[in-house]
Amino acid sequence: MNFIKVDSYEKLSITAANIIAAQIIMKPNCVLGLATGSSPVGTYKELIKKCDAGELDFSTVTSVNLDEYVGLDGSHDQSYRYFMNTNLFDHVNIDKARTAVPSGMSDDLAAEGAAYDKHIASLGGIDLQLLGIGLDGHIGFNEPADVFVKETHEVELHESTIEANARFFADIKDVPTKAITMGMGAIMNAKKVLLVANGANKKDILEKSFFGPITPQVPASILQLHPDVTVIYSEN
Ligand code: GLP
Repeated sequence: MNFIKVDSYEKLSITAANIIAAQIIMKPNCVLGLATGSSPVGTYKELIKKCDAGELDFSTVTSVNLDEYVGLDGSHDQSYRYFMNTNLFDHVNIDKARTAVPSGMSDDLAAEGAAYDKHIASLGGIDLQLLGIGLDGHIGFNEPADVFVKETHEVELHESTIEANARFFADIKDVPTKAITMGMGAIMNAKKVLLVANGANKKDILEKSFFGPITPQVPASILQLHPDVTVIYSEN
């Protein structure tokens, strides 16, 4: 594992964007696994800057996102589809037809999950997976559980995750209680994993995840078994 500690969120974002840019430059038709949450917002801003400067071309990039809330459609301003459009896709020359976010509106989430995994497999898997980390160690929305789930699946969000994400909603009652998330299979099959985390409150969970026992109770701990993980952390 490559652990990069930086002293500001700006440096974290620049470093992460440089790694993603290198991936796109080396493989212009790469498959990026993308993440939401506040941590990657700065990274996306830096990627937009590079695209504006003519240094980066997203025209042949394909993306697959980690997760989506159940019950929010893509036009809802707290849906992850909306997040991706407004924080990245609307500002770079990516073809939106090549961007995938699981649908939280499907009547049959098991079928949606199976179709999503089939889509990822049809792309040949993910070249670089960007991740944040939840305070309970979740990646995507893989919450602490008794087992690591391999496939894209429906999850019940934990109370602490609902509380953490309530800051984005007018009322905690508006936070969806369920989500659909990529499972550990597609994440672990990604050729490279890049995890970004900032804030003093993420320090403990990073220590547990990367230096503690590998257990589904700390979902990110599975990344200790991945051969190519880079973690960028800023305490500020
Ligand atoms: C959400 C997302 C995760 C993200 C996590 C942490 O729950 N589903 O993918 O990593 O939040 O978010 P933040 O970066 O805002 O701390």
